Amino acid sequence: MGKVIAMAGKGGTGKTTLCALVIRYLRRKGLKPILAVDADPSCNLADSLGLKVDKSLGTAREDFFETKGNLPPGMTKETYLEMKLHEILVESAGLDLLVMGRPEGPGCYCYANNILRRHLDLLIKNYPFVVMDNEAGMEHLSRRTTQGVDYLLFLSDYSLKGIRTVGKIGQLIDELKLSVKEKYLVVDRAPNGLDPIFSGEVQNLGLGLLGTIPEDPLISEYEMKGRPLLDLPEDSPAVQVVAGMMQNMIKG
Ligand SMILES: Nc1ncnc2c1ncn2[C@@H]1O[C@H](COP(=O)(O)OP(=O)(O)OP(=O)(O)O)[C@@H](O)[C@H]1O
Ligand SMILES: [Mg+2]
Repeated sequence: MGKVIAMAGKGGTGKTTLCALVIRYLRRKGLKPILAVDADPSCNLADSLGLKVDKSLGTAREDFFETKGNLPPGMTKETYLEMKLHEILVESAGLDLLVMGRPEGPGCYCYANNILRRHLDLLIKNYPFVVMDNEAGMEHLSRRTTQGVDYLLFLSDYSLKGIRTVGKIGQLIDELKLSVKEKYLVVDRAPNGLDPIFSGEVQNLGLGLLGTIPEDPLISEYEMKGRPLLDLPEDSPAVQVVAGMMQNMIKG
């Protein structure tokens, strides 16, 4: 059964970047195929992975709504939705990507959502690792799969406000009643030594600090040039610290 690694944290704290770095690590370790799931409605994980996407789970749901009265002969609604789910999966070497897209507008989508959720749960089981990028509080994700999360990584910037926000987001996630096995904090764009006041706030939070990622000029450079973060060199500082974090976390 696959291990699910998911990101949470407020806007701009580095969730998508960490997703790409985690995927880069798993792929190079041969821990593949990996399923990347973009559950952030403003979806930009594909860019960091260098993949092109034109369809999402949202598109599949809409296609179903337009076609459901008019399905090809012999095809059930369920088979049609399953086919759509496989159609939107972007496949590449050792890495597939599924984009959730925007949440649905007003209307009754329960039937389609229930079927899609069941098939998404099944799909996830085919991969040794699933890496999920999320909007801050993971509400979108929790509606789309019943699958629990093995490792939930909370991202924060290097500020007391950032750490306190992680506490609040953690409470919101608890209310979703997702099953989460292990939770960690990751501080992105952190300096070499942490200020004792900052470390004190981290202790109050009660989440284990998995690691800190330094400001890495290569990340900005790759982003500017539209190069996928999967191609970052081994000696990039961010790549190196993420490798250490992953070894500690998945023990692999
Ligand atoms: N360690 C780092 N060094 C340099 N740049 C970084 C680093 N981490 C993140 N960035 C840059 O900061 C910006 C925000 O990061 P990212 O997109 O990963 O955050 P996010 O949490 O996914 O944001 P959103 O909530 O908007 O999806 C990006 O432009 C990214 O390239
Ligand atoms: Mg993002």
